Amino acid sequence: MQPIAWQISLVLMALVAFGFAFVAINSGRRQEDYTPLQKSAYRLRTRLFWGLVLVFGPAMIYTLLELPYDAARANAGAGPVQVVEATGYQWRWELSQDRVAVGQPVEFRVTSADVNHGFGIYDANLHLVAQTQAMPGYINTLRHTFSEEGTYKILCMEYCGLAHHNMLTEIRVGAQ
Ligand code: CUA
Repeated sequence: MQPIAWQISLVLMALVAFGFAFVAINSGRRQEDYTPLQKSAYRLRTRLFWGLVLVFGPAMIYTLLELPYDAARANAGAGPVQVVEATGYQWRWELSQDRVAVGQPVEFRVTSADVNHGFGIYDANLHLVAQTQAMPGYINTLRHTFSEEGTYKILCMEYCGLAHHNMLTEIRVGAQ
């Protein structure tokens, strides 16, 4: 050990020992009246609590206004569930049907015939509306109700080899 480190550790040990001794000596003394201190601490705590409520309450309400979020809304929609089987291959998608009705829940049953793929549904502006993973040996269920008609793109969202970028198809959402 370096001489300086040795001296520092000796000082620190002395401080700790002093702390213990101080507590041991003072523990015998009569308890002082801490009531005023306790009262002001409680007052401070109450103010802090209401301060936090004032700050975070509106923030919480503001974020909850968006409820239900899209994922929660996915099961909404009228009519029977339309089931679409989707299978990923290097490098294409196979759908059991490429037309669904608007406003009516769709259940995508997504799997892969080879490696992991990402199943992403995009609207005409290429905004992602729903997604799940396509995995060999598993069927991932993705429920979504399309609220607008149009042609949606299904793109692979996970790098799966050379032609990953070519792995796309379309699904048309039309009137019921
Ligand atoms: Cu399939 Cu990337």
